[in-house]
Amino acid sequence: MGTEVYRRTRRMILSRALTAPFIVMLLVCGTLVYHFAASLRHQVTAKLVRIVDGHRRIIEQFLDERIQDLQFVAASSSYEELTREGEIDTALKRLQATSQAFLDLGVFDENGIHAAYAGPYTDLVGKNYAEARWFQEVQDKAVYVSDVFLGFRNIPHFVIVVRRQEGTRSWYLRATIDSLFFNDLVGSVRVGRTGEAYLVNRDGIFETPRRSGGALMEPDPDYPTYLADDREPLSFSAPDRSGERYVYATGRLRQTGWLLVVRQEADEAYGPLTRAVWIAVGLIVVGGGVVVFTAFVLASGLANRLRIADLEKQEMGTQLIMAGRLAEVGEMSAGVAHEINNPLQVMKSEYTLIQEILKDAERAGGAPTPEDLRQIRESVEEINQQIDRCKEITQGLLKFARKTEPTIQPIDLPSFVHEVVSMVEHGALLENIRIVEKSQHGLEPVESDPAQLQQVFLNLLNNAIYALKGRENAEIRITVGKEDGYATVAVADNGCGIPPENLEKIFLPFFTTKPVGQGTGLGLSTCYGIVEKLGGRIAVSSELNVGSVFTVYLPLAGPPEEVRHGAKISERRGDTR
Ligand SMILES: Nc1ncnc2c1ncn2[C@@H]1O[C@H](COP(=O)(O)OP(=O)(O)OP(=O)(O)O)[C@@H](O)[C@H]1O
Ligand SMILES: [Mg+2]
Repeated sequence: MGTEVYRRTRRMILSRALTAPFIVMLLVCGTLVYHFAASLRHQVTAKLVRIVDGHRRIIEQFLDERIQDLQFVAASSSYEELTREGEIDTALKRLQATSQAFLDLGVFDENGIHAAYAGPYTDLVGKNYAEARWFQEVQDKAVYVSDVFLGFRNIPHFVIVVRRQEGTRSWYLRATIDSLFFNDLVGSVRVGRTGEAYLVNRDGIFETPRRSGGALMEPDPDYPTYLADDREPLSFSAPDRSGERYVYATGRLRQTGWLLVVRQEADEAYGPLTRAVWIAVGLIVVGGGVVVFTAFVLASGLANRLRIADLEKQEMGTQLIMAGRLAEVGEMSAGVAHEINNPLQVMKSEYTLIQEILKDAERAGGAPTPEDLRQIRESVEEINQQIDRCKEITQGLLKFARKTEPTIQPIDLPSFVHEVVSMVEHGALLENIRIVEKSQHGLEPVESDPAQLQQVFLNLLNNAIYALKGRENAEIRITVGKEDGYATVAVADNGCGIPPENLEKIFLPFFTTKPVGQGTGLGLSTCYGIVEKLGGRIAVSSELNVGSVFTVYLPLAGPPEEVRHGAKISERRGDTR
């Protein structure tokens, strides 16, 4: 396997090991931040709404009490009594005893003429207020509360006017109220660093100054962005004129329609959320880093182990091939011994024949006759042929036993197969087995390793010969062809066949059905290993008592790059450890 495969394996382990933890981490952090944000938003708005609600009640109560104080004075005295000398002063004093906020008190007749006054100014008596706004408004409402103004005294105040119906005639009692009370009340509201509260009237004019900018009686530039409800306090968020976002809560005062506004900069109000998000991001980064690092170390370790395991498997495969080869050599040696025995017997009898001829000639007392010489020549020729045969046999064995380094070269399969067949031909003949070779025309050479292929075909042929032992019409058909970019060599026999339950086991090392001592069971596993390494495969089909076909597929283009360059496995392993 190339290093790219291990890199891909490592990437795959990494991506699988990382995806799940990352999704879980994102989900957990996302859910926590989402819930925290929702809860914080609720807390912030609830706090602002609570402040608005509480303070609105206090201011409304204050206004109600001042109105009731005034209504009590109007109800408990007649116009005549109050306009009598000194009465109005007494009434003001009584009012001031209930609240210091009362600054002055005046009585007005039905035409708006100032009839009596108690307070810091005296020259107001006799003036006509019929055109004054308060006078007009109080006509239908019976009670009127003005907006805040500074007046001559340059202190913020407002007026409360109550109408008194006495018989058919109306008269009016007007008191000036110091608004410092709710200036202080509203001004003292503090929420964090930027939280503040203030009052604006229905026209958007400040009724109390705003700490972050906005003087009394100036228009509030942010007024158009306010949302308000006449009954319930409202909460919302909006940017101010400078673009700074605020969280607001508003509530309207029942008596005046003024809006009590409490607001806090969103950045400050939601500061904990920003911090939580940063902590979550930090956790994801740090946690993610740890996870990535661990996964990387694990994945690299695993990929490396895989690589070592593969190398060990390859080495094991090589050792098995070697073992198979040795076993084959052993088996062949036995065959060779058997085969060499025949020529030796022939040579021995030829030798005896020559000796007999020579002895006879000696006994006859002279040189051998021309007939003797012809016989001797024939015997010597026979001996020579038998020596050649022995040489052939031993060379075949030597050729096979020699450990050859893997070399990839173009091989003409039909003649190569024929050469291998000739190595087993003699043995096959002894068993009365016919070997038929067939090959497709115009086959191009295949790039492969001849020494290894020789081992494969020898194994297959020897198996076929073994399966055909003692059978009638025994035949091995070898067909060389081509299929989808592969060269094919099919070795078919009409031997004993393989039972289905064994078919999947025959390629396992040490699986054999031969009697103990006759087979190692390494033949096919070795073939499998070799062919796979050369980039091909082996297919088998077999029917019990009919025969078997083993087909070897070899890539025409040659084995994979690694095998092609044929570095020794043990050397490669050395540099990866
Ligand atoms: N052509 C065949 N016909 C029938 N059975 C076969 C054939 N080739 C292989 N087998 C079965 O597969 C088994 C395994 O074969 P393999 O070549 O691996 O080992 P073996 O031939 O038993 O031993 P060795 O190759 O060491 O002599 C054989 O024992 C045999 O049962
Ligand atoms: Mg075998």
